[in-house]
This record gives sequence, C-alpha cells and structure tokens, in this order.
Amino acid sequence: MSLIAPDGGALVDLIVPDNQRVKKRAEATDLPKIPVTDYDVQWIHVLSEGWASPLRGFMREDEFLQTLHFNCLRQHDGTRVNMSIPITLDVSTDNFNRLKNQKAVALVNTEGNAVAILRDPEFYPHPKEERAARTFGLTHPAHPSIERINAMGNYLVGGELEVFDRITYNDGLDQYRLSPAEIRAEFKRRGADVVYAFQLRNPIHNGHALLMNETRDELKKQGYQNPMLLLHPLGGWTKADDVPLQVRMRQHDAVLEDGVLDADTTVVSIFPSPMLYAGPTEVQWHAKARMNAGADYFIVGRDPAGMPHPERLDSGGKSAPLYDPWHGVKALQAAVGLERLKIVPFRVAAYDKAAGKMGFFEPNRAADFLFVSGSQMREYARNGESPPDGFMSEKAWQVIVEYYASLD
Ligand code: ADX
Repeated sequence: MSLIAPDGGALVDLIVPDNQRVKKRAEATDLPKIPVTDYDVQWIHVLSEGWASPLRGFMREDEFLQTLHFNCLRQHDGTRVNMSIPITLDVSTDNFNRLKNQKAVALVNTEGNAVAILRDPEFYPHPKEERAARTFGLTHPAHPSIERINAMGNYLVGGELEVFDRITYNDGLDQYRLSPAEIRAEFKRRGADVVYAFQLRNPIHNGHALLMNETRDELKKQGYQNPMLLLHPLGGWTKADDVPLQVRMRQHDAVLEDGVLDADTTVVSIFPSPMLYAGPTEVQWHAKARMNAGADYFIVGRDPAGMPHPERLDSGGKSAPLYDPWHGVKALQAAVGLERLKIVPFRVAAYDKAAGKMGFFEPNRAADFLFVSGSQMREYARNGESPPDGFMSEKAWQVIVEYYASLD
C-alpha cells in the first residue's frame, strides 16, 4: 500500500549531498552574509526537509503574493497546491542596500555559523500591515506573531536554499524530529495501510484522545487493516504561556505509557514549524505539511491554531476567541489545493459529568458538561487540585502538575 503523494509529486530535499558539502561550505565563506535568527532557522528546517513541498526556499514576491491573496501556489502545469502562510526571510534596509545586487548570499545563525546558501536572491518590500491583515485577519500589535512581523526588517528576500546540514537543536529531542521522508519510511516499515495525523500544541487530554481513537475506529470500519496515527506535536516557536515542548513531550509519553493511545500503532514525532496563531489560515498549513509526510487523513476539531483575542472580551467578561471556533473546520474542508487530503472533522469534546468521562458536547444537556481550559488546568495544578477523574491520564497529569509547580 503506497502512501499519499507529496505536493508537486516528489518531496523537496534541500540538504546538500555529502559529496558537495565541503565545496559549498567553502563557497559560503566567500559570500556576503545575512544573519538569521533561531526563528528563521526553524523555517529553514521546515523548508529543507520538504514540509512545504514543492516550495524550494524562502518565498519570492510572486509566491508571497499568491499565498497572501489565494492561500495557494500555481504550479507550472497550472495546478494549485495549498500554501496558506508566508514563509519568508526579512532583512533590514541596510542589508538590502548592501546585498541587493548579489547572486548568492550565505545565511549565518546566531552562533556565527553559515547554515545555508540562498541562490539568486530576490529582494522586495515587506508589506507588514497587509501581511498581518491577510494572514491573521487583524493588525492588532499585541498578537504575538504580528508583534514579531512589526519588529522585522522592511524588506524580504526570497530564493532557493542549499542547506549544509540537517537542522538539530541538541535539546535531547532531536531523535523525535523525523523528516517527512523518515516518517513515510517508518509507516512503510510498520506496514501502515493508511495514516491519520493529529496536530497539537497543547497537552493531550482524554478529549483529544477521543478524537484520535474515534478516527482509528472509523478507518477500521472503512476496511483498513492497519491504520496508524502520526501524533505530531508542533515543536517550533510558541507563545510564552503555552506549555513548552520538553514538558509536552514528557506528557505525551505518559499518555502512551498509560495506554490512553495505542503505542503500537502510533508514531510520535515533532513538527519543526513555528506556531503562527492564524486560525483557519494556519490550519491549512498544518494539514498540508502532514500530507507531505504521508498522512491521508487529518483530524481537526474546535478552534485549531486559535488563541484568545488580544483585547476583545465575551459577554461574560472572559477573553473572546480570536477566530470563530468552527471556521477552522469549515475552511479546511473547502481549502483549495487540499482536495486529495481527507479531513476528519470533530465536534467539541468536554468533560461529561454525568458519564464521568470526556465525551462530545450535547447542547440539550449542556449543564452536564465541563470545559477545562488551559488556564483552568493551571488553576487546578496551582491549587493542588486534580481535574475530574477521566479528564487526563494520571501519569500525564503529574507531568503538568510538576511543570506548573516549577513555574511558581
Ligand atoms: S492547535 O493550535 O494545535 O490546533 P490544540 O493543541 O489545542 O491547538 O489542538 C489540537 C487539535 O485538537 C486541533 O485540531 C483542535 O481543533 C482540536 N481540539 C482541541 N481541543 C478540542 C476539544 N475540546 N474538542 C474538539 N477538538 C479539540
């Protein structure tokens, strides 16, 4: 059984072959340099392994504009692939003036090491406000990604990348950072006949597990013999009040050890992308990247890639969600360029007090359901209380308790 084909037919691989590394590195020492941040390196990681296939480098202006205006890129043969978020490199006005006529530049990380060559660079103005408005649906300067965009340079530079080495972080988690090609190979090795992916950036509660386990049951019902889960926590930059990757990975391990998810049919890996908090626009990216890693099915539920509005409150005085919590599911099901991917939409899961476990919310007995938010979890952990039995596996909850205790 062959897995779904990547966008553009073949996975992009921008890492220079072993026999050219020495030569390319030598070339880079003589090239003009552009400094890149750790955040930029996360995008270099994403591009180098083909998560954004068929994109072969930081976006040129026509790609940037297609992404902003259409959420997809037109290929030479006229077909479209989904590409909903800009993947760009910003440069200062000084660097623009210094480098605008160069034929190639070297990208140098914060430690002073060249990580890649950017060929035939194309410099263009960075329309920050328009980029923010089109990607996030607002320009509020307190949105964490818009804050970042506003602090970026006034120019962008696009071009094809040649990346010297696999990107690593030496944080004890590199063995979880499988490339799309390695994920595909692992599923083949394990004899998966279909792959379903779950994107997440939060600890796993039993509501999340319900989504994954129901998908598995449904695929079995459809006749698949060996459906396998790609449990794929996002590992790039996240906002300060999200639970850090290290803690989440321990928590996910505990969920598997407790048997809430079936370890034998699950591949846990880290998705190297940074988070944008762009809701329905970003969930398309989350889905597209997993298709490139071999997933035929993508699970989506309430408010994917969402966050609270930086300012607006709801009628109860709590922060309102930035995006309509159901626009993510709806937009994803209609997304241009993702027609090949099967979307598995879910209703909202909440703690059913009557049943004593997580279940799907039923509006006709709304009073039976308890919604435990991230801040509520934090509150429980702070006060030494436990969430209701059946909300999260015991071992996994202990990881959360330790984390919040360490913050205090
Ligand atoms: S996300 O930024 O990665 O989308 P999160 O980790 O909270 O955030 O969610 C992961 C996935 O689970 C998303 O598809 C989201 O829609 C879904 N999800 C999260 N919580 C619930 C819930 N209570 N009910 C249904 N779906 C949910």
